[in-house]
Amino acid sequence: MGKAARLDRSAAAELRTRLLDWYYRNRRDLPWRRGPDPYSIWVSEIMLQQTRVATVIDHYRAFLRRFPTLASLAKAREEDVLAEWSGLGYYRRARMLHKAAQFVADHLEGKLPATAEGLRALPGIGAYTAAAIASIAHGEAVAVVDGNVERVLCRLSGWELGSRAGGAALKRQIDALAGQLVDPVRPGDFNQAMMELGATVCLPRNPQCLICPIAGECKTRGEHKKPLRPRMLSREVGYALSVRMRRQPGSHGREVLLEQRPATVTVMPGLWELPALAEANVPEGELRMTVRHAIMQVNYYVRIRTVFEDDVPALTAPAGERRWVPLAEAGGMALTGLTRKVLTRAHLLARAPLDAITPQREPEMV
Ligand code: ADE
Repeated sequence: MGKAARLDRSAAAELRTRLLDWYYRNRRDLPWRRGPDPYSIWVSEIMLQQTRVATVIDHYRAFLRRFPTLASLAKAREEDVLAEWSGLGYYRRARMLHKAAQFVADHLEGKLPATAEGLRALPGIGAYTAAAIASIAHGEAVAVVDGNVERVLCRLSGWELGSRAGGAALKRQIDALAGQLVDPVRPGDFNQAMMELGATVCLPRNPQCLICPIAGECKTRGEHKKPLRPRMLSREVGYALSVRMRRQPGSHGREVLLEQRPATVTVMPGLWELPALAEANVPEGELRMTVRHAIMQVNYYVRIRTVFEDDVPALTAPAGERRWVPLAEAGGMALTGLTRKVLTRAHLLARAPLDAITPQREPEMV
């Protein structure tokens, strides 16, 4: 075991102080850091699980405007929850969040459990999310260990992360060290400081050791091993962009042809997308745009062409319902991320501007 695993009490206290001090000076002013409401913190932690902070900010605000309380989320229809989630991806998170809210409303008198142990019993809440909510909203001294925190602790201790040999034993070591380090008085801030350090300083490929507040205690300063990038696969696909004028007398506006993915597929069931082209290899002259879209380990090279209403053979047979949707409504539907990207780039959907993330000015350290 490395040096950091045997940190004595005063070394641990010193490390906490430095980390918290750095955090209070440098933390990003993020909307979920403005108050201790457990429901809002829960929503933010679920959104942050697989999505970058900059992407989460807008969605978080819009989601809380639409579902400001746990009760309002519990009462909502699943399709409305998914529509509000659209653009964040990994829709299973939204379904579980919704189910958990319904469980809390129906069986726990609408009160989210206040301990990590109680939270873990809810659908979609694992050890990491439970610890985040319990420590940030309720001050429970439990450590949050996400991928960023694992990396920070491994570098700090000189442990080799990613070696398969380490496996479960290494994970136990990391958890034990995290548990030893977590600040008993400000566990929520401490946990967020560790995550923030991993996200902004102790970067996977290019760690900024010169500005790291705990570089003095770190065993591997500057000697980090670069993790291998996962091998990306690539696939070429084609989608149809079909837009027509609305025909009903007395109403006007454009409609886009969308197709619903079947409820039985494992990837993004029930979401709406552009119909797939029968022939993905679109000739240059017919190309409307190309889009690169990454999902997990696959880079999709997407070709988009215009397909006219009567050119049915250009499309694959529909796997689910196909429908002409007014463009004014399409943005509010549960679209796949790729379809939202294409419609936005074609200027067919309105998009709210991303708010700037500004560092907080007033340090709150006492
Ligand atoms: N990643 C997940 N939750 C976070 C939080 N509360 N602060 C910083 N990064 C995070």
